[in-house]
Amino acid sequence: MDKRQFCKISMLSLGALVFPKKGLALEYYPTTPDKKWAILYGTWCGSARDASLWISEGMAGVANVFDVRENPDLSGYENIVIGGAIRMAKVSGELEKYIADHKNDLKGKIRGLFTVSGNMMQPVTPAQKAQLIDNYLAKLCEVSNVPSATFLGRVTLSLMDKEAAQMMSSMKDYDNLKRPECMAFGKQVFEAAK
Ligand SMILES: Cc1cc2nc3c(=O)[nH]c(=O)nc-3n(C[C@H](O)[C@H](O)[C@H](O)COP(=O)(O)O)c2cc1C
Repeated sequence: MDKRQFCKISMLSLGALVFPKKGLALEYYPTTPDKKWAILYGTWCGSARDASLWISEGMAGVANVFDVRENPDLSGYENIVIGGAIRMAKVSGELEKYIADHKNDLKGKIRGLFTVSGNMMQPVTPAQKAQLIDNYLAKLCEVSNVPSATFLGRVTLSLMDKEAAQMMSSMKDYDNLKRPECMAFGKQVFEAAK
């Protein structure tokens, strides 16, 4: 290997180290993107991500879907749906922070809210929905009366960090997230915004 070739390879390797995030980000490609709709989610183990993709499918695939950890720029979108997985009765710290930090970008654009939670595998009651949506997520987002949904989620112990897995060690894996319910919510949000 000559000196020039060595320098070139070194620079490329350095570039890969300096800019790893962009290359590793999981991009979602909507089927018919109109650049107006975005779904923003917070997740630990992926149920809220899958709910988001299925919500977009219910909107005929127009919405782009973003993990809040990508810190997306949503300023160009006109309609935004926000949702997240629940731990200890809250969405992730990253999602809470994003909502607080981007109040101006989100103002007047939030068309739907949702949560994904285990709820001890029981159906979510109206009182529990009010606690998660009206008294919590809607307040964080400073919206009221937008369509909302509380989906039952799933537990996949092998995807959890050690601490969470320990807390859930008495549980077995389960999956109560339903694609038709997520799609129906997507359709409802899309129709309501027309
Ligand atoms: C550490 C931990 C705390 C949780 N806390 C709650 C809770 O407060 N209420 C609830 O209904 N579900 C709770 N769950 C269940 C999750 O909401 C459920 O597994 C959800 O599907 C996770 O979504 P995710 O896969 O997108 O991270 C908790 C799960 C874990 C692992």
